[in-house]
Amino acid sequence: MSSKPIGIFDSGVGGLSIWKEIRQLLPLESTLYLSDSKHAPYGPKGSKAILELSIKNTEYLIDKGCKLIVVACNTATTNAIEFLRTNYKVPFIGIEPAIKPAALQTQTKRIGVLATKGTLSSHLFHKTSQLYSNELVVVEQVGNGIVELIEQGQLYSKEMRDLLSIYLSPMIKAEIDYLVLGCTHYHFLMPILKKLLPNNVNIIDSAEAVARQTKSVLKLNKLSNSGVEKGKSQFYTNGTQSVIANLLKFETVTLKKLDF
Ligand code: DGL
Repeated sequence: MSSKPIGIFDSGVGGLSIWKEIRQLLPLESTLYLSDSKHAPYGPKGSKAILELSIKNTEYLIDKGCKLIVVACNTATTNAIEFLRTNYKVPFIGIEPAIKPAALQTQTKRIGVLATKGTLSSHLFHKTSQLYSNELVVVEQVGNGIVELIEQGQLYSKEMRDLLSIYLSPMIKAEIDYLVLGCTHYHFLMPILKKLLPNNVNIIDSAEAVARQTKSVLKLNKLSNSGVEKGKSQFYTNGTQSVIANLLKFETVTLKKLDF
C-alpha cells in the first residue's frame, strides 16, 4: 500500500484525457502530471529523440517519488516503453492505438487510424496492426499539425477543421466504420470529429481502458492507496499555463513550472 503519487507524462496536454479518467476511477490516488509542451510535438522527432525525452520525463517523475508511471502518450509508448520497463523498477502503463477492438467489431472491414508519424512508423504499432488487421483495410493517417494546434489552444479553429477534413476524407471514401484515435491529444477533438464523420463511424479512444489498467496494476503490485482522503493532483508544465488551465477548467488544480 502506498500514498505516493502516480506519475503521468505526455509531450503536452494530451495525456490530461487519461489523467481525468484516472482521477475519476481512483479518487484516493494522488497524481503528478508532467506536460513536456516545450518539446511537443514528439511525433516527427525520430525514435532516438523520443526515447531520450521519455527517459528524462521518467527520471523526473521517479525523482519526485512516483510509485507507478503512466506513459500517457502513444508516441512515447510505442517508441520507449520496452526500454523503460527494462531499465526502471517502477511499473509502467502505456497506451497504443486500440486496433484490436476496432478490428473485432468492424462490419465494413475497413478501419481508420489517426496517429502521429512516430507511432505509425514504430515497430510496436506494426506488430499490433499485423496481428489484428488480417483481411481488413486499415487506412492510416498521420495527423501532422494537430498536436501543435491543440498545444496553442486552437482546438476549435478553422485551421483545425480544415486539417481534419483533409485527413478524414480518404477514410470516409474508404467507408470505414471505426476510427481509432492513436494520440492522446486527439481525445479533445471528439466533438469536432463527430460532426465531420458520417453517423455510422464509431470513434475509439482508450483513455478509460488505461485508467482501468492502472487500477489493476496498482492492485497487483500492492501499491494502491489505502487512505480515506481524496488524492492531490499536481501539474508540471514547461508550456503555456493558460492552455493546460483551460482544459482543466472544471477542476481545482495546482499548476507548477517545469524546469527543463
Ligand atoms: N499525445 C501524444 C501521443 O499520444 C502526442 C505526440 C506528439 O507530441 O506528437 O502520441
